Amino acid sequence: MNLLVEKLLESPICETARQVKANGLYPYFKAIESEQDTEVIISGKKVLMFGSNAYLGLTNHPKVKEAAIEAVKKYGTGMAGSRYLNGTIDLHLALEKKIAQFLGKDDAMVYSTGFQVNLGVVSCMTGREDYILWDELDHASIIEGHRLSYSTKLKFRHNDMDSLERQLQKCVPDKVKLIVVDGVFSMEGDIANLPEIVRLARKYNANIMVDEAHGLGVLGRQGRGVCDHFGLLPQVDLVMGTFSKSLASIGGFIASSQPVIDYLRLNSRSYIFSASSTPAATAAANAAFDIMVNEPERIEHLWKLTDYALARFRNMGAEIGHTSTPIIPLFIRDNEKTFYVTKELFDQGIFVNPVVAPAVASDDTLIRFSLMATHSFRQLDYALDKIEKCLYKIGVLNPQYAEMLV
Ligand SMILES: Cc1ncc(COP(=O)(O)O)c(C=O)c1O
Repeated sequence: MNLLVEKLLESPICETARQVKANGLYPYFKAIESEQDTEVIISGKKVLMFGSNAYLGLTNHPKVKEAAIEAVKKYGTGMAGSRYLNGTIDLHLALEKKIAQFLGKDDAMVYSTGFQVNLGVVSCMTGREDYILWDELDHASIIEGHRLSYSTKLKFRHNDMDSLERQLQKCVPDKVKLIVVDGVFSMEGDIANLPEIVRLARKYNANIMVDEAHGLGVLGRQGRGVCDHFGLLPQVDLVMGTFSKSLASIGGFIASSQPVIDYLRLNSRSYIFSASSTPAATAAANAAFDIMVNEPERIEHLWKLTDYALARFRNMGAEIGHTSTPIIPLFIRDNEKTFYVTKELFDQGIFVNPVVAPAVASDDTLIRFSLMATHSFRQLDYALDKIEKCLYKIGVLNPQYAEMLV
């Protein structure tokens, strides 16, 4: 037997996948045959989409589509090179300027994906004698970024400010200390304790980078994100965001002071050694950005749905942790039951995402339920009723969860 194949077949995740497939519960890589909207078609079947990151529901907005089409007509389909060399067009520069102004930063850089932003920024900001302090639930792209860095990495417990302070105390005072956190945690939906992080950063002379992948378009004035929600944008040194969620496209950005951006343009390897984002993706993000800024009623509706769903989940006794955003984790705490619930809901016309080991610890498995500004209350009620019945059936509803969080 081929040694490589043998080794790969032994990997725990492949083993789990084989078992789940054998039980007819495999939920991944289902092809969507329609637009990404609140209702999608999968295998010819209409299902309600409660697993999307398109929080503002803009992926099929006529103005966003039109902008992408016009960009293809004018610039073609691909950039055929890196931003550094032949891959910059005026659309990239205009979008960078707009983002920087919006966030009150000197400058911004547009990358081809959000993953590449974190990878290319976190890996090159700090040196051998410096420190990266990271929340244990930070996104994988942040973790990949600091894996590539030569700095000392200090993990702190999720949103635990005593733990962060203990780690800061370990650092040599006159070395760079970069604290990197998700603004909204992507699976759990809770918000970083930014006021405390800012206080500790001041006390220990540290710098802060916030990933706004799930905050942009959701929190803050006109969707500026978590940093703005707390009125702390000026105190955050680097603000990262993606176009793949609220902005209905693909790509990402980092916004910061001029010296930081000047450094990154010349040192960030995923920016330099990868082709730049396509004209269509850049133009779509730009159009979606304008809608986010000019149509605040979308964000308002998203929050009405969110508040309603959070209250109903808590009242039914679902365990939803500390979320306070449109990302709602339904903790099942069992791999197999999580796959079962996903399949059961799909059969009843509801698409949700299972999050299982090894992505999370096996007793932290959950169903990730997420909302879009384009959902109607009728769609939401339909889903909530079905979910309540399903969670009841597998025995995970407990009225005490609601009390525990008050
Ligand atoms: C918190 C967070 N950061 C970064 C990313 C990567 O963004 P993208 O999908 O645009 O590459 C994601 C995507 O899932 C995310 O959730």
